[in-house]
Amino acid sequence: MALRVGVIGAGSMGKHHVRIYSELPTVELVGVADIDESVAELAAIHNVRFHKDYQELLKQAPELVSIAVPTSLHVEVALAALEAGCHLLIEKPISNTLDSAGAIIESAKERGRKVFVGHVERFNPAVIALKDAISSGKLGEVHSISNLRVGAYNRRIFDTGIILDLGSHDIDLISYLYSRKAEAVFALGAAKIHEYEDHAAISLKFAQSAAGYIELSWLSPYKVRKMFVVGTEHFGLVDLIQQSLIVYDGKDWVDTGLVERDEPLKLELASLVEAVLNDQPPAVSGEDSLYTIQVALAAIESYSKGDAVHFPEHANEPYPTALNSNERG
Ligand SMILES: NC(=O)c1ccc[n+]([C@@H]2O[C@H](COP(=O)([O-])OP(=O)(O)OC[C@H]3O[C@@H](n4cnc5c(N)ncnc54)[C@H](O)[C@@H]3O)[C@@H](O)[C@H]2O)c1
Repeated sequence: MALRVGVIGAGSMGKHHVRIYSELPTVELVGVADIDESVAELAAIHNVRFHKDYQELLKQAPELVSIAVPTSLHVEVALAALEAGCHLLIEKPISNTLDSAGAIIESAKERGRKVFVGHVERFNPAVIALKDAISSGKLGEVHSISNLRVGAYNRRIFDTGIILDLGSHDIDLISYLYSRKAEAVFALGAAKIHEYEDHAAISLKFAQSAAGYIELSWLSPYKVRKMFVVGTEHFGLVDLIQQSLIVYDGKDWVDTGLVERDEPLKLELASLVEAVLNDQPPAVSGEDSLYTIQVALAAIESYSKGDAVHFPEHANEPYPTALNSNERG
């Protein structure tokens, strides 16, 4: 039987949820809700019911809802959808405060519902290939991962700075590749064109002095999404937009041939629908995203006070958080 799914918030991200769910054979898309009435046209194209009020969509009894409203509204919509008995896919980051993220996770636990968070880069085929290359030892011992994520600012992002909005991708990715939580963060950041910080440089410290570096900017006219991975055997370079992984083996750049390109969001949504249908745990859980905002908010604190923030409680903590003891890296 198909899973009954609804989408709340169908702007630049949510419209892709609508398109992909409408194409998944395991999904019955029961409705789309958005305060913007022009979304009714999108709903009509996909032959799905439109609601201006998301509470009306919740009355259609969807089993799963995608929440792609602005980040500061996630908590209100998530708690209402949980009350209506839905499993959730919340776009990343889970929320903009630790308390509101904790409230979502707590409510889901009480109601026995699953919370997936849309850290879509985990489903980028180039990241999947890089994770394989690191796990198989192809790169040697990895001691530095640097992510560059820059591009022009879009005014629709009004309620968070770049660290929560984009940096949460990279905090998740680097921790995922090390299979560990960061033990300290130090950041620089400032606001030039936005109310919140619009450029930042973040350093993360992991076990055995492994490092993560994240350069973020909304001041760049040119869009770049790259990862540079320093291993003792090979140097890896990932282009997240091109979905490529090439390694330098000491003599030459080598195409690993490991990357089969696909749409990351399609892979993410197909995987979560399967997880709900088969009662499996989320690939990217609410707890994972809570960790990413904990580190992101600490990075904001760090650049504000000019000092590092330490997480002694993260020493030797595995990541993703949902891994059980026999799957830990
Ligand atoms: N995973 C990713 O790579 C990725 C990329 C972009 C955005 N996002 C996340 O998706 C979320 C939305 O971002 P966006 O860029 O699509 O923003 P957007 O402004 O383009 O879309 C938000 C939509 O929510 C609607 N909305 C606002 N309040 C509503 C309400 N009360 N009820 C119903 N609809 C409401 C708006 O009308 C708009 O259509 C954010 O949390 C953002 O961080 C994730």
